[in-house]
Amino acid sequence: MILVIEPDPSTRAALVHRLPEPEPISEVDSLEEADETLQRLADSTSCLVLGPSLDRAGALTFAEKVGQRDAVGVLLVAQELESAVLREALRAGVDDVLTLDAAPGEWDESLARARGRAATERGHRRPEVAEDTERGRLVSVFSTKGGCGKSVVATNLALLAAERSKQNVGLIDLDLQSGDMAIMLQLMPALSIYDASQSVSHLDAEAMQGYLTPHASGVHLLAAPMEPSLGEQITATSIQTILELLRSLFPLTIIDGPPLFTDQMLGALDISDEIILVGSMDVPSIKSLKMAIQTLKQLGHSREKLRVVMNRADSKVGLRAAEVEKSLGVEIDVQIPSSRDVPLSINQGIPLAASRPKSPVVGAIGELVPDLIPQADEQGERGRFFRRR
Ligand SMILES: Nc1ncnc2c1ncn2[C@@H]1O[C@H](COP(=O)(O)OP(=O)(O)OP(=O)(O)O)[C@@H](O)[C@H]1O
Ligand SMILES: [Mg+2]
Repeated sequence: MILVIEPDPSTRAALVHRLPEPEPISEVDSLEEADETLQRLADSTSCLVLGPSLDRAGALTFAEKVGQRDAVGVLLVAQELESAVLREALRAGVDDVLTLDAAPGEWDESLARARGRAATERGHRRPEVAEDTERGRLVSVFSTKGGCGKSVVATNLALLAAERSKQNVGLIDLDLQSGDMAIMLQLMPALSIYDASQSVSHLDAEAMQGYLTPHASGVHLLAAPMEPSLGEQITATSIQTILELLRSLFPLTIIDGPPLFTDQMLGALDISDEIILVGSMDVPSIKSLKMAIQTLKQLGHSREKLRVVMNRADSKVGLRAAEVEKSLGVEIDVQIPSSRDVPLSINQGIPLAASRPKSPVVGAIGELVPDLIPQADEQGERGRFFRRR
């Protein structure tokens, strides 16, 4: 339910008209009444909309109080968008500030973001999810250069982890514009991350399973949107909510990233336990790897969280690993050789880990597994993850 709080009846009607939702709307004309409604119905309220005729200071104090007590999104509607109002509102914990004449797309996006944030918070407040030992790990596979082998590493790593741990493993395609995980696994997803993001405020772990496409290996894919343009509509907050749900389903979820720092990827990196940076043996790729390492450091990610993987490390292109390490300022953790089996496996839609498990490429990617699921066998005993069928 969305709770609209606005004293002026005609403005209130205009606000209700703006809400593009099938979700029920409840209207009240004062903060007192809103408080009373929330005390009864906080659990079924996804978002508050604070109307423009409310006293600003009172509305913001109310937003702050609600923020401490209930996990609901809060939008403030102002007469005009001034930076002072925005700052005050954000400080009070308001998710976004809009004007009454904001475009429908802006309303949609602000609402989705506010509800996504609230849903994540609800997840954190739920005691069973908060237990750290029971949460699965999130591992991002990333680079700021295209075509260096992220998707090859991500798919094979997911397959190897599923096989060795005898558990299901999550795989999410965050290359929202041109994701190719489904093709690499020869899957035909009926639903994608876009569909999951559309209902993010109502999702729980069980509902999340409906958006996944299973692969025979025990890997469960959350596919990229079928239409590239849909990717832009998925907010970073909804990605984080989805990732937290996947974390509660799988002991390990692998994220295959786009070749640049998108908002959504930054959100995923923030909550990842490990980041696998992939580079290949050519000067532009190494330069972009170096920049990526620096940017990640600036964003506060520690070196311990990073694994540096050099793909096609045996390429005879006049560069040696030692020189590359010196230039990067970090050691390379894993070196993957070049092999024509890789493009062959992609064209077949059967990852090498399944078709040629003895390939040196698979051997190298497999070196990453023990770091990601340290007690693979013990985890096999754990009951609360989505068990292998
Ligand atoms: N070790 C390897 N040996 C030979 N070819 C490889 C190797 N790794 C990757 N390739 C080839 O490089 C191409 C790009 O690989 P991949 O799709 O995994 O890169 P990516 O980083 O995910 O690219 P994008 O940024 O476009 O998503 C593929 O065609 C693949 O066949
Ligand atoms: Mg890719």
